[in-house]
This record gives sequence, structure tokens and C-alpha cells, in this order.
Amino acid sequence: MTKIIDGKVISAAVKQRVADGVKELNAKGITVGLAVIIVGDDPASKVYVANKKKACEALGIISEEYALPESTTEEELLSLIKELNSKKSINGILCQLPLPKHLDEKIIINSILPEKDVDAFHPSNVGKIMIGDYDFVPCTPAGVMEMLKYENIDVEGKTCVVIGRSNIVGKPMGMLLLHKNGTVTICHSRTKNLKEICLTADILVAAVGRANFVTADMVKEGAVVIDVGMNRENGKLCGDVDYENVKDKASAITPVPGGVGPMTIAMLMQNTLTAAKKQNNCKE
Ligand code: GUN
Repeated sequence: MTKIIDGKVISAAVKQRVADGVKELNAKGITVGLAVIIVGDDPASKVYVANKKKACEALGIISEEYALPESTTEEELLSLIKELNSKKSINGILCQLPLPKHLDEKIIINSILPEKDVDAFHPSNVGKIMIGDYDFVPCTPAGVMEMLKYENIDVEGKTCVVIGRSNIVGKPMGMLLLHKNGTVTICHSRTKNLKEICLTADILVAAVGRANFVTADMVKEGAVVIDVGMNRENGKLCGDVDYENVKDKASAITPVPGGVGPMTIAMLMQNTLTAAKKQNNCKE
């Protein structure tokens, strides 16, 4: 029987843990605060930001939303981040991406204090992930690792194949699996023999951004299949994996929706709690 890995159940467990941690800090007179910045009117970004705010409220995290107009200048945005960097009640700062074209994402991300960079996008945090000495992990790969842990899926010695090499998912995903002693291959659009490589995977992570990209003939019998995709096809949300045909071949699989998606916000909440603990010199 294929195990369907339920992101709703696992994210609820993470959120409960965070809510308990927030309560513990509150009892010591410490609050936990997250600032979320959104520039412009991208409808998808607005939904993500609203969901982040809702999650904060449910867990006792104070959220401050800064909705700035599309016309915001780099100088204005940098000035807001500077203010939030030094604001005591704010432990985490997240600037929703993508930013409007006239704003340089690199400059903006670099301006967030690494200790408050709960997305783990700052080069300092990216470097820490590389050397295996990190406090924050980008939320989606962190969510995948949490799912594997929850399901007692041991990574050590396993052949892990990640499809996709983005800075947000593919690259950190590969590093986290490597830190757990997996043997990792990262595939991308120029990879030759993609199907053959995928067929070697004990753990296959799809982060491509193309609906039904991973078909059953690319999956080894008994593999664990993690679908990070969030694609819209004819108005319907679907992942990167041809779920219906792959699920009987896999030993465990994440559905879309209800798989990795709900984990992302839960891990953001966890990173925010970690930030608050660090900034207040609390033990983990
Ligand atoms: N846009 C899409 N996903 C993310 C995310 O995880 N963090 C930020 N800041 N922007 C995003």
C-alpha cells in the first residue's frame, strides 16, 4: 500500500509545536513578531501574504503587514527594511517575491539582517546551509525534510534525485539531503538521461514547475516521491508529478494539494520562532 504523506496533518503538528514555543516565550515576557512586506498587486502574492498573516495570528505570532504600492522606489523599500532591522519587536522580516521589475531582488534581500531573514535567502544564510551550520532553512525544503522525518523515512545512504535547481528549492533541498547522508543528484533542464537518473532514485523530489512532468516510467518501484510543484491546469491546482499513475508505484507520495504546500508556512512560523529565541538568547 502506498503511503500518502499528509501535509495537512504534519503541518498541524509543526504549528502546534510553534504555538507551544511562542507561549513559552510569552510567559517570559518575550513576544514573537514577523514583518511581511508586499510590493504591488500580484494576486498570488496577496493570497500567500494573507495566509502567512492568518498563520501568525493562529499561533500567537504578532504580524505586521507592509503593503506598498507598485511605484515604491528602491530607496523607500530599503529605508523600511532598515527600520524593521532595528525594530526590537520584529524578529523576522519577509519580503514577498517576486518584486516589481524596477526593484533589484538581490539588493533588497541583502539588506535584510541575516538574523531576521526567516526565508533564509540572504547569502550569509545560504552559505551557512552549504557548510551545515544553519539556523534558518528555506521553508519549502525545510518542510520536505520535516515530512521525511515525520514518516520515519531515513535518508542515509539513499539515492536522492532532485529535479530543479532553483535557489529557493532545488539547491537547498539537495544540501539538506546531503547533510542527512543521502547520495544526491540535482537535475535540471540541461540534464541528459533525466529518465534514467530518476529511475535510480530511492527519494525523488520534483521541483520543476511543470504539471505532470514526472511520469510513472521515471519512477522506480517503491520510491518515495515528493512533489513540490504548484501548477494550475484548467484552473485546477496540480503538482509536477503525474499523481494518478505514479502513486501505485511509489512506496510513499505527497499529493497536491495537501502535500508540501501546507508545510511551507508552518516552517516559516518555525523559523520566526527560532529567530525570536536567538535574538533573546533562549536555548533551542
Ligand atoms: N514567493 C514565493 N514563495 C516565496 C517565499 O517562500 N518567500 C518569499 N519571500 N517570497 C516568495
